[in-house]
Amino acid sequence: MTSDLIPTLGGEYYCDPAVFTAEQEHIFEQMWFCAVRSGELADPGTFRRVQVGRESVLVVRGHDGELRAFLNICRHRGAMICTESEGQVRRNLRCPYHAWTYGLDGKLIAAPNLGSLQDDSGAPIDRVAYGLIPVALREWLGYAWVCLADDPPSFETEVMGAATARLGDPAAIDHYDMAELAVGKRVVYDVAANWKLIVENFMECYHCATIHPELVEVLPEFAGGFAAQYYVGHGAEFGDRIDGFTVDGRAGFDPLPGLAPEQDRKYYAITIRPTVFVNLVPDHVIFHRMYPMAHDRTIVECDWLYAPDVIESGGVLDHSVELFHRVNEQDFAACERTQPAMSSRAYRKGGVLVPAEHHIAEFHEWTRKKIGESC
Ligand code: FES
Ligand code: FE
Repeated sequence: MTSDLIPTLGGEYYCDPAVFTAEQEHIFEQMWFCAVRSGELADPGTFRRVQVGRESVLVVRGHDGELRAFLNICRHRGAMICTESEGQVRRNLRCPYHAWTYGLDGKLIAAPNLGSLQDDSGAPIDRVAYGLIPVALREWLGYAWVCLADDPPSFETEVMGAATARLGDPAAIDHYDMAELAVGKRVVYDVAANWKLIVENFMECYHCATIHPELVEVLPEFAGGFAAQYYVGHGAEFGDRIDGFTVDGRAGFDPLPGLAPEQDRKYYAITIRPTVFVNLVPDHVIFHRMYPMAHDRTIVECDWLYAPDVIESGGVLDHSVELFHRVNEQDFAACERTQPAMSSRAYRKGGVLVPAEHHIAEFHEWTRKKIGESC
């Protein structure tokens, strides 16, 4: 007989800075990392600086309309090019230290005395070779994803494949046409918890009946404790007296135009490792991106995405946004309550997973494999 209780990771996985460093190296700096909403960098010269693992990455819109990513490091003597977290430059990126200047395509275009400098063969300095170091970038669902790996893994398999694995039909997510949706609301949560506690919490619904009264009202099957992502293709059905995915069950907006009939009145949740959660409901999409900052701190940026005409017509989003905002606050409070216990002797060997949480063991195994048994 096998036990219904199976062990979790030990506490050190959540509180040891060495484990976090290994995760930065082997997970965040190797996998596709969701960096920014493409639409927020609409104009040439708009940029955003994001932390990806141990690196500062600059995502910038070029004069040719292309979005590109670079390491935010000057090739001269290493000063950070942009220290603001976001902004807009007029023509190019200029290092504030000695004024080396780069085009929005990363090429070195000017530096004091650059014209008189030569390489060891006497030729002028190669402006591409001394340009900013490019970082791989792909756009999908209206977001820019970057990858620091020398040889990035397949975006189709690792990122797009997660949505297919969860929803079954590879086209199912396209029905929400996320790239065309508008950000109706963004809330940034600064969570004092390890990123894996947030992932694990998102993966299970054993806690739903205890901490999410409003969500369970809208999705009664969550009271049973089984997560919406428990089996492929399953969407959690709205309760009979529920008119919309809102904090009090009142009607929301019209379903997104591309939805299939079977996607109406349903909630789907997708985890795209390592740092993204997508929640699909008929009239909007809730998109979470995590930025793991330290072993005990994670910034979560959450976007509520609506059809552009809902935003343009001044639709009141409050009741719609409030439901998942409460869910987020309830979830992050639970994660913050758990984090301090990770360094307790009570949790040295970890805790246990009940059957409704057994699927989390696969995430633990995945983490162990990624960072190696050395940690
Ligand atoms: Fe950037 Fe010198 S370090 S110009
Ligand atoms: Fe929850």
